[in-house]
Amino acid sequence: MKTIVLIGLVLAISGVALARDLPEFIHVCKKNEPNLSECIKSSIINLKPQLKTGMPDYKIPSLEPLMLKELTATAGGNLKLKITNAIIHGSSDFLLTKLKANLETLTFIVDVDLPRLSISGNYDVNGRIILLYIRGNGPMQGNFTNSKAFVKIQMKEFKKEDGESYLKVAELKTKIAVVQDGALHLENLFGGDPVLGDAVNNAINSNFNSFVTEIKPTVENAISNAFTDIANGILQQFPFKTLFPES
Ligand SMILES: *[C@@H]1O[C@H](CO)[C@@H](O)[C@H](O)[C@H]1NC(C)=O
Ligand SMILES: *[C@@H]1O[C@H](CO)[C@@H](O)[C@H](O)[C@H]1NC(C)=O
Repeated sequence: MKTIVLIGLVLAISGVALARDLPEFIHVCKKNEPNLSECIKSSIINLKPQLKTGMPDYKIPSLEPLMLKELTATAGGNLKLKITNAIIHGSSDFLLTKLKANLETLTFIVDVDLPRLSISGNYDVNGRIILLYIRGNGPMQGNFTNSKAFVKIQMKEFKKEDGESYLKVAELKTKIAVVQDGALHLENLFGGDPVLGDAVNNAINSNFNSFVTEIKPTVENAISNAFTDIANGILQQFPFKTLFPES
């Protein structure tokens, strides 16, 4: 008995990733489900309460709020943008408007509506946007209403040391289709210059749509990277056949 406890402790401390059974709050979809897409969709909707609070034991982060340590623009271009310690409210109110899953090709297409998102954090920006040169770093806060996003996920199968087959994200692409409206406030622009700071904040807010269009690729990239990490963290715990049993 003591030995078992000791082994358990050693494994827990060393963080060895072991294949595990699915927790009861995940509703399993069989591989040959008549409508697999429908099944996965209702399984995700079922999971909303757990997604809201998060399940650290299963590496499921909390969506309310969703905390992202770093959203960095890796894309080239004229703008460098980094948002750190972002706290996002409203992601748990997501609506799945479409879900298409194909287990032959391992392709998943998900459309989501986000009625209201509010984000706060620290920004660091340098570059040209809506014809303005902006530079600064400090706290930021913003609201976005009625956003629509499309996510396309290409998975691949890989074998772990335990001989089991697992899924991982080969490519995850987020497209922000619509942001109906919003507002943003960047504190401390240009080292705290109040006149320039106010002018740029006003310019951003009165040209919010153009602003969103310009930062979109950056934000899409950052969101895709964040969600790839989250998805892989969850997926590496459960073998493919546990997630999608044959029958
Ligand atoms: C399967 O479910 C999806 C997603 O809910 C739905 O759009 C589609 O019409 C369904 N297909 C069939 C054949 O029932
Ligand atoms: C975002 O919404 C909150 C709550 O309604 C409000 O207090 C805040 O001022 C808004 N932010 C901006 C930048 O307008």
